[in-house]
Amino acid sequence: MGNVNVLDYPISTISCEHENNDHRVFHVDREVYSDSIKIPLSLSGISKSYGSHLVLGDIDLQIPAGKSISIIGASGSGKSTLLRIMANIELPTSGQIRWWGNDSRILGSTDRRLGMVFQDANLLPWANVLQNVALPLRLQGMPKAIAMKASFEILEVVGLHQKDKLFPRELSGGMKMRVSIARAIVTKPNLLFMDEPFGALDEITREQLNDDMLRIREELGVTIVLVTHSIQEAVYMGDMVLVLKANPGRVSEIIELPKAFDFWRNSDDYRISDAYFNNVRIVSQALRKWSER
Ligand SMILES: Nc1ncnc2c1ncn2[C@@H]1O[C@H](COP(=O)(O)OP(=O)(O)OP(=O)(O)O)[C@@H](O)[C@H]1O
Ligand SMILES: [Mg+2]
Repeated sequence: MGNVNVLDYPISTISCEHENNDHRVFHVDREVYSDSIKIPLSLSGISKSYGSHLVLGDIDLQIPAGKSISIIGASGSGKSTLLRIMANIELPTSGQIRWWGNDSRILGSTDRRLGMVFQDANLLPWANVLQNVALPLRLQGMPKAIAMKASFEILEVVGLHQKDKLFPRELSGGMKMRVSIARAIVTKPNLLFMDEPFGALDEITREQLNDDMLRIREELGVTIVLVTHSIQEAVYMGDMVLVLKANPGRVSEIIELPKAFDFWRNSDDYRISDAYFNNVRIVSQALRKWSER
């Protein structure tokens, strides 16, 4: 297969068929490629120490495409550290992160297929809502008019298009978080990392944003990794819930919640369904079990 755009494929799937003076023909191994896009994120043997303090120990994990995984664990168990390592914001002490089959260090953290939302909205105070959302596109070099149009469309997705001219100081906490989410998804990421994004919000706003995120996930087909302290949120948002055990942080259990999203899709009442409460109970018991050790 000639004339492939090599940047669209994991390096592990590409080989150079032949090379002339100024011309290379690449070959993509379709079988390896189709395997790698099914697993956008994989961790093998990840550990992290700060000095002599072992924070994360030997974590293996594979997250399938389009799935949402919630990470839950005691304060200080290493959830944020794990998320930063997954997003290549921080390097592990040992082990390997692969995005779509590629070593994350090769692909680079500026890759447009990643988005990150932190607990604080982290908006630029001197820029209005639309300019804040457009920032990643402008940094990518997208012409202003196109970036603004694309950003306005994303503001419609998060329901803030009528607030596009406001400045962060004029927004409520929930609105700021919506802008932060819009900014993270404006580049249409395939992988979205969220670290306790809704922790500071009231329950009603939080539930609305949870629903927004599930809808966005459907629209973009994005794979979401969400760190949360709320068992209810972990269950509502996740196809699976990873329970992180502390000292050092290790994956103690991954609870698959196969019915959760189907229930939500088919019914407005998932939050008050027996299936939901049952899942909350299962995760709650797991968290208690692993926190006691
Ligand atoms: N840059 C750093 N330097 C030294 N130690 C760090 C650093 N970042 C995190 N740690 C330590 O790593 C451990 C895990 O921190 P981390 O922030 O990942 O926990 P967490 O599970 O996200 O906690 P929380 O639920 O409170 O947000 C803590 O003991 C923390 O002190
Ligand atoms: Mg944290």
